[in-house]
Amino acid sequence: MEKTFYITTPIYYVNDVPHIGHAYTTLACDVMARFKRARGYQVAFLTGTDEHGQKVEAAAKANGETPLELADRVVKRFQALWDKLNTSHTDFIRTTQERHKHTVQEQFKSIEAKGDIYLGEYEDWYCTPCETFWTETQMINGNCPDCSRATTKLKEESYFFRMSKYQDQLLAHIEANPDFIQPKSRRNEILSFVREGLRDLSISRTSFSWGIPVPGNEKHVIYVWFDALTNYISALGYPEDHNKLFATFWPAVHVIGKDILRFHTVYWPTFLMAAGLPLPRQIFAHGWWTVEGQKMSKSLRNVVEPHMLADTYGVDTIRYFLLREVPFGLDGDFSHSALIGRINSDLANDLGNLVSRSSAMLGKYFDGTLPQPGIAETIDDKFVSLFSETVTKSDALLDEMAFNKALIAIWELISAGNKYIDETAPWALAKDPEQQPRLATVMYNLVDSLRVIALLVTPFMPQTAEKILTLLGRDISSLHTEEFDFSVRLTPGTRIDKATPMFPRIETK
Ligand code: MSP
Repeated sequence: MEKTFYITTPIYYVNDVPHIGHAYTTLACDVMARFKRARGYQVAFLTGTDEHGQKVEAAAKANGETPLELADRVVKRFQALWDKLNTSHTDFIRTTQERHKHTVQEQFKSIEAKGDIYLGEYEDWYCTPCETFWTETQMINGNCPDCSRATTKLKEESYFFRMSKYQDQLLAHIEANPDFIQPKSRRNEILSFVREGLRDLSISRTSFSWGIPVPGNEKHVIYVWFDALTNYISALGYPEDHNKLFATFWPAVHVIGKDILRFHTVYWPTFLMAAGLPLPRQIFAHGWWTVEGQKMSKSLRNVVEPHMLADTYGVDTIRYFLLREVPFGLDGDFSHSALIGRINSDLANDLGNLVSRSSAMLGKYFDGTLPQPGIAETIDDKFVSLFSETVTKSDALLDEMAFNKALIAIWELISAGNKYIDETAPWALAKDPEQQPRLATVMYNLVDSLRVIALLVTPFMPQTAEKILTLLGRDISSLHTEEFDFSVRLTPGTRIDKATPMFPRIETK
């Protein structure tokens, strides 16, 4: 049996333009997808856009366009951003696509046939000017949280999902599977939420029309979250599964932000239980980014545009920074000074220097041809054994999505490389003809360490890895596939050019 891995991002709302928060989720998934692929897995990586619902309808109206026109326009921005950031998703789903609508309606029918969907009445507080329903807890002093005006209690006919029926089954599943919800703090949060009791869930609306109609009762549109969550299986062609994608890839690992935890760990699993489908393998909720200490928002005009960041600092730099700066799962703060600090120290000083010093010395002492290594001394053995130790360590950390710890481990190898240069002092060895074999060993190990480092950073910084491996004369055509062989050391005799600076330092005033 082939090893398979299915990872998903949330599907992004089209009533907002992409910012670093969105880029963060997608990049984390991309690192996982690239990592698993390089370790022999067949990978499905899904992203897309969430295009239905009242918010999109309202945003379109305000812009004087149809919801689909708005979606068509904004979806391009997301797609252009993912192209720019070099993400390797294998599918992009839009909830307005026929394939998706079909699955949502089939899913609705199948749960209804089971008796877990019934018609009832939804009662909540309604703000007429905003045309929005609010729950008791959402309101502020009994008024609409958006416009502060008075609300009235209104009833709306609605279909309900018997979520309460699945409370015990869900609780048992979370308890029996400690990794189902990660990190642990989020798991605890959901455990206590479910223990308090689940109510049945309203899953249709009649107050607006931009959505997927309820099969057999077109007055109702299916609730956006029932619609949106189903994307994870509609993209696999469920239920027909003509291409056997569902059979091959389901269940998925869902990476999400902490704000949409409940939808993914309570609603979605209970929908799946009702439909008789296996639950997701894991739901990992990451934290939120603020910008220079403040919440990111359009009104504060502090939205950080990832496209522009990538143009200014480089794609791999942004990929590195976002995953290195903050432990995955915790909140973090974006600041230009932190970004520049990482560029100058981790990228220019540590990684960039190791590559340029090594290749420059090889040019100087061996005319750019990789020598045959001689007998190894303790210092060499110690350095070389760190190669495989780092791979093991970084792989284990990536399996837990501990991206920043994996990068720290990789950077320990980079530092060890720089230290190896300082301690073996190739410039001194080069002065003594008798030390030629010693110099050859040192230079060989050093340059071969670049190969290992490049392979380790591949999921994070694919273009940088390609540059380094190309410099080392490696064939990179299969670098991003399961066929790439990790363990083959460099061949003595290979010609290696002097590297051009990869990460120029950024001068700050
Ligand atoms: N459409 C829903 C998801 C449906 S999934 C079936 C949605 N979309 S969203 O566009 O609002 O958010 C998508 C993701 O971006 C979420 O995971 C959210 O946590 C993440 N982020 C949005 N702002 C963020 C930050 N400031 N920081 C980090 N991530 C943030 O929710």
